[in-house]
Parts: sequence; C-alpha cells; structure tokens
Amino acid sequence: MKNLLSIFIFTGLLLTSCSSSDDSVEMDDNNNNGNELTYVGTIRSIINSNCTGCHGNPPTNNAPMALTTYLEVRSAVETRNLLGRLNSATNPMPPTGQLPTGTRQLIEDWVDLGMPEN
Ligand code: HEC
Repeated sequence: MKNLLSIFIFTGLLLTSCSSSDDSVEMDDNNNNGNELTYVGTIRSIINSNCTGCHGNPPTNNAPMALTTYLEVRSAVETRNLLGRLNSATNPMPPTGQLPTGTRQLIEDWVDLGMPEN
C-alpha cells in the first residue's frame, strides 16, 4: 500500500512538471497569438506555398479543383481524400513528392482539431 501511494504521488509530480513545461513550449512555438492551429494562422500558407500553383482559381495543370479558400480545402479533406494524397507513397500531392513529415503532421493535427478556420 505504501508503494502504491508513492507511485501516485510520483505520477502526480511528473504530470505537474510536464504540464507546466508543455505550456511554455506552446506559447513559444505558436506564431498565432496563442490560438490553436487554424486555417488562417498556419494551414493557408502551407497550401499557398505547395498546392495553389496547380490548385488555384482557376486550377491549372489539370488539377481538378481549387484550394484557395477555407471551404475548398475543407471540402477536399472531406470528399477528395486530401490527407490520403498528402501521405501517399505512390501518388502523393504535390506530385513532385511528399511534403516534409512535420508539415504533413501540421495538416493532420489541424484536421484532428476539426479544421478550425480562425
Ligand atoms: C504540379 C501540380 C499540382 C500541385 C503542386 C498539387 N496538385 Fe493536387 N492534383 C494535381 C492534379 C493534376 C490532380 C489530378 C490527378 C490526380 O488525382 O493525381 C490532383 C489531384 C489532387 C487531389 C485529388 C482530387 C480528386 O478529386 O481526386 C487532391 C486531394 C489534391 N490534388 C491535393 C493537393 C494538395 C493538398 C496539394 C499541395 C500539398 C496539391 N494537390 C498540389 C496537380 C497538383
């Protein structure tokens, strides 16, 4: 019983110290006024740098749709398998090759958050 109690106390201390350091990392790393990952704050510029060269309005190079607005990007996630194509080894988007892991992870995290716009 004593051992169990000290495990609880130890875990409690660990959690406390972890959560306080996590908070400060979040503050430092977030370039978006402390808000969570959003379309306007982070995702739009990733799409503009890597996708709208073809998925512009109007689309070019045979791209089937535009990715220039929040609704267009959200709809492509929901109905056009955007994440699948981002991570595809054989048929990735962009067609020149997968984006860096960290960049793809940002987009996945944003989708997990429910694709907040602002
Ligand atoms: C060099 C031009 C080009 C770039 C850059 C590009 N795409 Fe595409 N994309 C295409 C073409 C052409 C197709 C249609 C053929 C295909 O599905 O491979 C397509 C298809 C897609 C599809 C599937 C659409 C459907 O209905 O099947 C998605 C999703 C997609 N692109 C997302 C993206 C994303 C996200 C980016 C940026 C990370 C991107 N694309 C960058 C040319 C491009």
